[in-house]
Parts: sequence; C-alpha cells; structure tokens
Amino acid sequence: MLADNVVPRRLIAAQATLDERINLRGYRRRVRHVLSELQRCVPDPKSYHPVLAGDRRAEPVTGHLCLAMGHDRIEGVASTTPSTSESRTALLSDIAAVAGTPCYVYDAGTIRKAYATLDDAFDGYPHAIHYALKANSTLAIVRLVQALGSHADANSLGEVDVAFRCGFRPEQIVFTGVGKSAAEIDRAVSLGLLAINVESPGELDRIDQRAIAQGVQARVALRVNPDIDAKSHPHISTGLKSNKFGVPIDEAPALFREISSRRGLLPIGAHVHIGSQITTLDPLSKAAEAVVALARGLRSDGVELQHLDMGGGLGISYDGSPVVDPAEYVRALVAATRGSGLKVAIEPGRVLVGPAGVLLSKVVDVKQFPGAKRFIVLDAGMTELMRPALYNAYHRIEPLIRRDGDEVPVDIVGPICESTDAYARDRHFPPVEVGDVVVVRDVGAYGAVMGHTYLRRPLPPEVLIDGDKWRVIRRRQTLDELLALED
Ligand code: LLP
Repeated sequence: MLADNVVPRRLIAAQATLDERINLRGYRRRVRHVLSELQRCVPDPKSYHPVLAGDRRAEPVTGHLCLAMGHDRIEGVASTTPSTSESRTALLSDIAAVAGTPCYVYDAGTIRKAYATLDDAFDGYPHAIHYALKANSTLAIVRLVQALGSHADANSLGEVDVAFRCGFRPEQIVFTGVGKSAAEIDRAVSLGLLAINVESPGELDRIDQRAIAQGVQARVALRVNPDIDAKSHPHISTGLKSNKFGVPIDEAPALFREISSRRGLLPIGAHVHIGSQITTLDPLSKAAEAVVALARGLRSDGVELQHLDMGGGLGISYDGSPVVDPAEYVRALVAATRGSGLKVAIEPGRVLVGPAGVLLSKVVDVKQFPGAKRFIVLDAGMTELMRPALYNAYHRIEPLIRRDGDEVPVDIVGPICESTDAYARDRHFPPVEVGDVVVVRDVGAYGAVMGHTYLRRPLPPEVLIDGDKWRVIRRRQTLDELLALED
C-alpha cells in the first residue's frame, strides 16, 4: 500500500521536472535568440572604434526606444540579476551593441527610489539631503537628483560649478574639502554658499580674511573629528584622530567661540563624516550623538547653530549580505537630533547611486595556465573602474547571457599592464567565450567618476535608462579629445 500523499508527491515531482525541461528549453532558445540578435546588432567594429583619430561616428545616441519591457521596468539593472530576466538581458545587450563596451549603464528608477526612501524616512522632521556629487557627477545624474528636491555637497570648485549647471542654488550647496586652495576659498565665499565646511583653525582664519576683504560674512560649519571607528575599509575611514579630516571634537567649543567672534564668519552648523561604505549603524549613531552633544554645549555657550550635517557614509551591499537599512539610519539620526530641535543635513552619495549602475564589458580573451589559473580578460579594467585595484573592493560580476556549464574558479582581469588590474580573483564563474558581455554590478558610485585614461584609453560612455527609454548621457571620449590639451 502506498501512503496517501505518495501519488500526489510523485505527480508534483513529475510536473516539476517537466516544467524545468520546458524552462530549460525556453532558456536555451532565449540564449540562442539573444546571441543571434547580438551578432546581428553588433555594429562594424570600426564604426565603434572611438580611438581611431578623427572618428566622430560615436556621436551621442539619444532617445532610443528600446524593447517593450512590460512590467519589468529594470527597477535596478544592478540590484536584480540581469541574466534572470529576458527583457533586461535584451535591453543590456542592445545597449552594449549600440554604445559599445566598456559602458556604464544607470537606472533612473533605482536612483529615484533610493532618494525617496531616505527622504520619506525623515517623516516630516526638518532636513536637507545634500547629494555628495563626488559619487557620480555626470550631469544627467546630478540633474536627476536635483529634480527630486535634493541639495548638494560639493568637494571642489569643479563640483560647485557642476551643481550650478544642474540647477542648484548657492544656498543649497555645502562645500567640503580637506585642503581648500586660496582660489577655492575666495570663490566659495563670493558665491554665498549655504556652508563652507571648515577643516582647521588655519582655514577658518583664511575664510575670515577673504570674507572681510569681500565685505561679506561667510556661513561656515565646523567639521569635527569625533575619533570614532567607522569599521569600514581604512582607505575610506575618516573619523579617527589618526585621519587628516576635521578638528578634534574637544577643540570644537573653543573654535566655535572663535568663529562667533570673527567679523567675516557666521557659524551655521557642525559637520561630521566618519567614512564611507559603513555597514553598521552603531558608528553612525555615535557620531550623530557626539555632534548633538556638541551643539547642546554650544547653545549654553550662546552659540546657536542652524543645522547638524551628519555627512554621508551609508554603505550598500556589494555581495548581497545585509547592510544598514537606509530608513533605519535616517530614523536613528532623527532620534539622536530631535531633542536639539536642529535641522538635520546628510550628504549621501553611494547609497543613492551605487546600486543603480552596472558596467558592461566584453570578454576579449580566455586563457588557462596548465595546472594553474584560468583568466578571463575583459575590455574594461582599472581605467574604467578603480575600486577593485584601489581597495580590493568586491563587485558581483555575471555574464549577461549565461552559457550551460559548471562554474570554475577564474581571475577576472582587465587589459592594463598592471598586476593589480583585476576585478576578481579565484571567483567561481560560469563558462564564457570571447565576445560575451559581462555585467559588473553596483558601480553607480565611485565608478565612472574615478575613471582615468592610463594607456591613452579614452573614457567610456555612460547610458541612462529611464522607464522604457535609454540614452547616452556621456558619449565615449575620442582619442582626439583625449589629446586636445597637448601640443
Ligand atoms: N561627505 C563627505 C565629506 C565625504 O567625504 C563623502 C565621501 C561623502 C559625503 C559621501 O559618502 P558616501 O555616502 O558616498 O559614502 N572612492 C571611495 C569612496 C570615497 C568616499 C569619499 N568621501 C570608494 O570607491 O569606495
């Protein structure tokens, strides 16, 4: 006798096997279809060889209507697995074919969603989100964030200018930077920015002098160093007294009294930023509590501030493991600040744009050293994305179209003649062949902005997907443009 549930169980198992076969066949068909589509659309390599001197054919590509995507509107090309969705795969294949590789691709919807999550979590508490332009200052991205109601955090006069060009007003911009030149101070003072975040007693003095010379009062916020370990990568931690940033927090009360006594300065806030890619709430809450305590002490000293600028630093999940929920982070800041009645400013960069970007790259070689390593060589390397070479940073990498076969350990490397030019080492990766497109995920922040032109490699294009449209927001640099400054 069979137990009651055996027959249904067998039926379910049989159905599952059938489904799997059908899906597999469908999948194989899909792969073949997309591959043949790819071959069909890949343009003549010469017409996409921007390094050919004088070749102007790689002109901006705009207003491309891509395949209808139905419900799958690429809500995060990066935060979902591209190879699991036919439409996403087809879209990215289309972009790789038209814009060429390497190529950055961003998704506007993902940025909007990340902004709304932070903004909504303030739940009516007075605040300002100053987008840290350093994360990604491509004009179309900055305009997009500006249109959402963001304010700006600029780190150089170049970024201040970009902020203006993208519609920010002076009173929406905070200007940060650990070593501001005389020219930068002069211009920042003359622009009447919301705040110049001051990094040292010497800088405070220089700002005062320039403000007096211009007959104005400069609004300043003092950047304090609370000596808190952000528990992030040492290269991107800034809140310990062994780091070069800000002034020790116990010197802050005296410096604020000094600011109040200066004719050219108006104290407007306290600023703290203890590092980037912070994945636990504790250091961020502690830093917030430290500046709130400072502000309380200042009030009893007669120094009234208008805002507490808690900096940026919130991390994202590069490997899928859990990180701080952005809404929880905001709630922690508000909880720390509420009693002070002061407005909260934050300077997020990575959390707004990081997960919204992928880098499309093509396999240019696959080689196996006998009994040793297998290398997948890409057409993108440390020139396009510095993070792995600079911080040993982890980025998920996937073939755009997965081929059948087992994963094996490989080094995924770039074409640059530096051994540090590797995106991943001993990574388990499915089979790929020369010409396949791979997707490097979570590169919307500190990706394109940190790109460079070593080996005379022109900067790659950037593409923005918005709904069911995409367009090139920065075209590929030509070699002529790269050489234009030279004699
Ligand atoms: N505010 C200040 C004063 C900063 O120095 C930074 C980042 C931010 C805000 C924005 O931080 P976020 O929210 O993006 O963590 N290149 C490195 C990151 C360097 C961050 C520099 N400062 C990377 O690729 O990880």
